[in-house]
Amino acid sequence: MFRVVSVTCEYPWLTHDSLAMTFIDIDDRFDQLKIARLRHQLADHPLMTAEGLAALALRVDPEHVRFHAGKRQLDTNMGRMLTTDPTRRDLRHALGNLHDSGAFVQILDVRSDPAYRAVVDAVLDEVSAVLPVRDRQLRNRDAAAFLASPGSVTPFHLDHEQNFLCHIRGAKRFYVWDHRDRSVIGERELETFFGEGKLRDLSYRPEIQPRAQVIDLQPGDCVYMPMGSPHAVSTGADITVTFSILMNTASAFEQVEAYRANRVLRRIGLSPRPVGDSWVRDSLKRHTVGAVRKMRDLARGKIGERRLQWY
Ligand SMILES: [Fe+2]
Repeated sequence: MFRVVSVTCEYPWLTHDSLAMTFIDIDDRFDQLKIARLRHQLADHPLMTAEGLAALALRVDPEHVRFHAGKRQLDTNMGRMLTTDPTRRDLRHALGNLHDSGAFVQILDVRSDPAYRAVVDAVLDEVSAVLPVRDRQLRNRDAAAFLASPGSVTPFHLDHEQNFLCHIRGAKRFYVWDHRDRSVIGERELETFFGEGKLRDLSYRPEIQPRAQVIDLQPGDCVYMPMGSPHAVSTGADITVTFSILMNTASAFEQVEAYRANRVLRRIGLSPRPVGDSWVRDSLKRHTVGAVRKMRDLARGKIGERRLQWY
């Protein structure tokens, strides 16, 4: 657990000794394309309390705090459901009454906060050490935190990052589907998702429910989800807190670019082969579309590498 040593610093749990610990139990057998059940050591971290994360929600850019209070179902459209609150008045009310406000609060861009950034980077440094060499320099480092009232539902959706979902407080039932299962999310939906940054149409259908892996989470449990894994959540009788450590490797970014390339090809009337069918074909499409994009950017005076910017 967290060993506080005698060195004085602003965040005593971030001294060298405590950073030397293992935050998530993974080793070099880790496969970034497979859902994995793991354990983590963040549940007792002083930054991970509901109070600490509520304070974070009230100090980060309000654009990056999205929430909903009221009834939600698995098939509620997540994108349309969540709202931001520039005044922070409704957000403050939802957080202050979390036991009975029926709220779901999502804090994005958590790594913009210096204290949380140090923790996130320490975890990702550990994770990147077990990745294949070409993926160790991560293309994207990020984190998100989630606070939910008792009896809460997080509707079916998918995210752009590879996610180490670390459960901190309460009981949570987690449903996750294989990201390669095209009977759950179709190829064109993924092209839109990675091309436009959002899942435009509702995709949950009751017939996909038996294809879900159902995982009951307690504090200390961690689920790793590959990029684009559909998932949904229901919670028990307590407030729940979850902290997601997020990343995108170079391999994952290549997949994103392949979906974007297919989207471009489809728009000009072609019928591209699904991503993943052929590594050579995916690579060729990526490079062709990338070269066209680079020429267009140069013509518009834009220079530099494309950033991964999901929100
Ligand atoms: Fe999610």
